[in-house]
Amino acid sequence: MRIVPLGASEIRVAALIHKEAFGFEAWDERAIADLLAMPGAVGRLVVDPTIGPPEPLGFMLLLFVAEDAELLTVAVRPGARRQGIATSLMADFFQLAHQRKATNAFLEVAADNVPAQRLYARLGFLVEGTRRDYYKRPGNKRVAAHLLRRPIA
Ligand SMILES: CC(C)(COP(=O)(O)OP(=O)(O)OC[C@H]1O[C@@H](n2cnc3c(N)ncnc32)[C@H](O)[C@@H]1OP(=O)(O)O)[C@@H](O)C(=O)NCCC(=O)NCCS
Repeated sequence: MRIVPLGASEIRVAALIHKEAFGFEAWDERAIADLLAMPGAVGRLVVDPTIGPPEPLGFMLLLFVAEDAELLTVAVRPGARRQGIATSLMADFFQLAHQRKATNAFLEVAADNVPAQRLYARLGFLVEGTRRDYYKRPGNKRVAAHLLRRPIA
């Protein structure tokens, strides 16, 4: 497994991975391209380089603004989950944040997303606040977003 920069030519596969992960709430190619064009935005892609052309397994989008490092999204292909890929991406995030002299990492996670909440809790993130009715769910339902923070050592 290797983590490489996510450039313009990987936006299509990133949108496919996002669709698999988030369904109707997923970001399309245009949305991902717009985010990556923001000052301070960084994309990272995980590839499996062992067989043939490197196969994308997951990605994350980050935003660095002054001393804040924000995880905008992270997604791993369903068939590649529970193998430590998100954990490796998060380690890469913390390393980039440290290099950029960020003092805190931030992210938002849906109140019903237990896998992601466990991942972040294991990495030392703590809940700093909650936004009610933040994410859409089928059937006109909404769930809250928890705002999480972790200091960058
Ligand atoms: C959340 C997600 C990124 C985790 O990716 P992953 O590569 O499977 O995560 P890891 O293998 O690094 O898991 C690390 C730890 O997180 C927790 N975790 C991950 N998936 C879990 C699950 N389905 N159920 C419970 N805990 C889970 C576990 O503590 C796990 O450690 P363990 O496997 O030793 O028990 C992945 O499930 C995903 O892409 N989900 C859809 C998109 C999403 O929700 N992104 C986060 C938005 S905030």
